[in-house]
This record gives sequence, C-alpha cells and structure tokens, in this order.
Amino acid sequence: MKINIKTEKPENVKSELLIIGHFEKEKFPHPILDKKLKGRISKAIKEKKFEGEFKQIYSVSSLGLASPEKVLLVGLGKKKDFDIEKLRQVAAFTAKIARDGKIKDFRTALLDFEIKGKSTTDRAQALTEGMLLGLYKFTHYKTDKKEQPHKINEAVILTKDVSNTKKGVKRGEILAEATNYVRDLVNIPACDMTPTVLANEAKKIAKKNGIKIKIFGKKELQKKKMNAILGVSSGSTQEPKLILMETNPKAKKKMAIVGKGITFDSGGLDIKPSSYMLDMKCDMAGAAAVLGTVMVAAKLKLPINVLGVMVASENMTGGAAQKPGDIVTAYNKKTIEIANTDAEGRLVLADAVAYAEEKKPVAIVDIATLTGTSIVVLGYSGAPLISNDEKLKKAIKKAADETHEKVWELPIWEEFREAIKGELADVRNLGKGKGYEAGTITAATFIEAFIKKTPWAHLDIGGVGWFIEDNDYVPKGGTGYGVRLLVNFLENWK
Ligand code: BES
Ligand code: MG
Ligand code: ZN
Repeated sequence: MKINIKTEKPENVKSELLIIGHFEKEKFPHPILDKKLKGRISKAIKEKKFEGEFKQIYSVSSLGLASPEKVLLVGLGKKKDFDIEKLRQVAAFTAKIARDGKIKDFRTALLDFEIKGKSTTDRAQALTEGMLLGLYKFTHYKTDKKEQPHKINEAVILTKDVSNTKKGVKRGEILAEATNYVRDLVNIPACDMTPTVLANEAKKIAKKNGIKIKIFGKKELQKKKMNAILGVSSGSTQEPKLILMETNPKAKKKMAIVGKGITFDSGGLDIKPSSYMLDMKCDMAGAAAVLGTVMVAAKLKLPINVLGVMVASENMTGGAAQKPGDIVTAYNKKTIEIANTDAEGRLVLADAVAYAEEKKPVAIVDIATLTGTSIVVLGYSGAPLISNDEKLKKAIKKAADETHEKVWELPIWEEFREAIKGELADVRNLGKGKGYEAGTITAATFIEAFIKKTPWAHLDIGGVGWFIEDNDYVPKGGTGYGVRLLVNFLENWK
C-alpha cells in the first residue's frame, strides 16, 4: 500500500472512503462535511448512535452530497486519554476495515489531533506504522488466490503540514517494513528458515544497504573454539552460523546487539512435549529483530556503529546431539554443565556475547526468546528486562515507552548467581532446585556470567516475539517485536 500526503479538506476529497476521528463528548471536528451530508453525522451523535467511544465506528454513505463516497467515523475515546499508541491502534483498526471492505484507496484525517509532547512527524510516523503493521498478513504458502488479502492501492493522509508529515511517513514506512520483514523471517517454517537461509538473508540485506558482514560457519566456529554454540548445534544436520554485521565501522561509538537465532528448538534430548514444540520456529525471533534493526540503522544512517551479532543454530536430537550432563568449554574458556539441553539459548548467547565484548562496544544488548517463564512473568504484554547498568536500563525503558514495545525490569540478586554455579564445571545452564524458579532471571544471570565488564542488558522476548492471537496492529505469529524499540534506543543513545 502506497502512502501519500495531501492538504485537501475532508469535505472535498474524491475517494472511495474517508476516515474521520471523533472524541467522546467533544465537538465534531468537521462541521462543513457534516453540513454537506445534511447533518447526518451530528444527528447520529445527538441520537447517541455514535458517541466516539474508542474504536466505535459509524459509517455514512454520502450519496453524492459530498465528494467522498463513504465516510467512516471512528471513535477516539476521551480526548485526555488519547496518545500516540492509541493513534497507532486506531490507524491499524481503520486500515483493516478498509481492507475488509475491499477499498482501493482511502483518505484518512486521523492526523488532525494534537498529542501532548508529540510533533506532527511523530504522529505521522505512528499513523503510518499502525496502518502498515496492522495490514500485515503472512500468506506466502497459500496457493488459493482467494486466501490472499485484498490489496489497498493507496492511503492518503490529510495534513496541513506536508513537510513534517512526509518525514514521519518515511520513518514509519522504514520501521514498519523492517518489522514486517522480521515477521516474515519468523513465520517462515523451520524447514525453509535454516541457519544457512538466515545467513543468506543477512547477506542480502548487507549488500542492499552497504553493511559490512562476516559469517562464521562450523569450521570457523571450531577454529575459534565456540563450543557452546557447537554443542547446541551438534544434534542437527544444519550448519550453525554466527552472523556479524556492522553498519558504520568508522563511527566513534559501537553498540552491540546480539540475537538468539535458534531456527528450531525441539528441546534437544530433553525434548519438548509436542504442544510446546509446535511453534518453536519462532525461536530465532531475537536474531531476526537484530537483522531488522541493523537494516534500519543503515537506512537511517545512524551515526553510531551498530554491531549486529546473530547466532543461528538448530536444537535437535540427532545421534551426535549434546547430552544432559555433558560439559563444554565456552569461547571465553569457562566450563558449562549441560543440565538441560532445552536451555540452549543461553548457551549460544554465552559465546556470542563473549565474542561481542571483544569488539569493545560501549554496551551489549541481547534479545532472545529465552524462556517460557517470561510468559508467566509478563504474559504477552512486555519483555522482562535484566541489566547490570543503570544508564542502559534507563535508555531502554525510555525507548520502550516511546515505541510501546514494553519492558519491565527484573533484578539480578546474588542468590541467582549462586543458583547457576556448577557442581563439576564453572556454571550450569539451569538454576539449581527444580530449575524453573525465577527461570527468566537465572537464564539472564547465566548470560551475565560471560560478560567481563561491559554494560549489558537482556530482553527476554519469549512472550512477545510470537503471538497466539491477533492484537491491534500485531497479528498472530511473528510479531517483529524489538525493531522499533532498538532503533529508538540506538537513535537516542548518548
Ligand atoms: N525457546 C525456549 C523458550 C520459549 C518458550 C520461547 C516458549 C518462546 C515460547 C527456550 O529455549 C526453552 O526451551 N526454555 C526452557 C528453559 C528450561 C529448560 C530451563 C523453558 O523456558 O521452559
Ligand atoms: Mg529450549
Ligand atoms: Zn529455545
């Protein structure tokens, strides 16, 4: 869907559909349009057929009285509660109505409403994000044409401020396209999204956007003694890949973002029950988010050098699979007891963060579908954030607030470090006790053990990387969580 910008007055637009917002208990913002429609809008409001409750809709056919063929009124709720996230939501909501109505082009007047602390550019970005993210559907594998969603050709945003609107639309497009790309990567089944395929995708993105890239396959990983990664991949016929990208090698500051890329997590020999295994193609959502973020950082020419580290592997049960009780020596020479082969994410990340730290970044942020327990902690609403650095935490929380990709902090206390001490080796990949106590924290604490001194933050997207039902502008399946959050964070890092 192409997004264009025009300065037309709503009553004059020639389009199949015009989308208009209205706040509860406020004056209707387009009296001329109402007058042209012979007062049918004000009548509906007066008769309480349409009161402007959030996402309430009322549609009016203009019957030639005004230029748009149809006017869709959408409730914006109470004026004081309206914010940038509500704008994203209502943008998605109305775009989906237009799609379901097989509309070819529509105009939207949803940019009309001021939001405290937000510029026109911010609002145009949010409106664009909401529309493009909300319209996403993964139908690559459907062969019946009827299953393909109706395509809207054009959405036109009505505005008084063309240049700032344009800027916001451009940013919104870049971010939404990257997020939808990440969703595709996550939704593609594991048979077609192996570590090698992911690495090839990264190459494609690198080439297109002038990003430096280096990929370690099995041989290089063996040479570098990245045995934690190799151990996880040993039960698979697919070669593991460590993908390294740099957006701006000449920049003074480097920020490392590290993503878990388990393209399928069967659990390994500690095999998952079938119902838990079904969606485990999602276990590379962290790496996909890193790839999307790196791509946007390059497109927006961010002044910081983003070092994207994606660690891709399968976790399978083949004859050479790693066994419970095995001990491996990680890249940084620490020894690890494999207490559970299904706690594989922290293992591959152990080598990845240790390697990233050698590159001297100002900080390391890892993003991973690390624990099912993260769903117990925050449901599907936000990502647990665990960090050893106040400044970094604060910056991530701020980015989360602005993008509505929510995070909530959990602590690392000394007893959690105690819980992952090994019996025979230095550390174990599962907390002592039953193993699931504070599972999200012990998993993060394990990663922390592989970082010497660099500020580090961990985002557990076990609950937010993959949705089991549709949610506003996030359809079920891969969510693309992390791209908007991390880009905002990188842009504002000082
Ligand atoms: N990939 C899973 C975590 C996960 C579960 C992500 C559900 C998304 C949805 C991870 O590798 C895993 O298996 N974690 C185990 C750890 C346990 C063995 C300590 C878990 O969370 O159950
Ligand atoms: Mg696992
Ligand atoms: Zn996993």
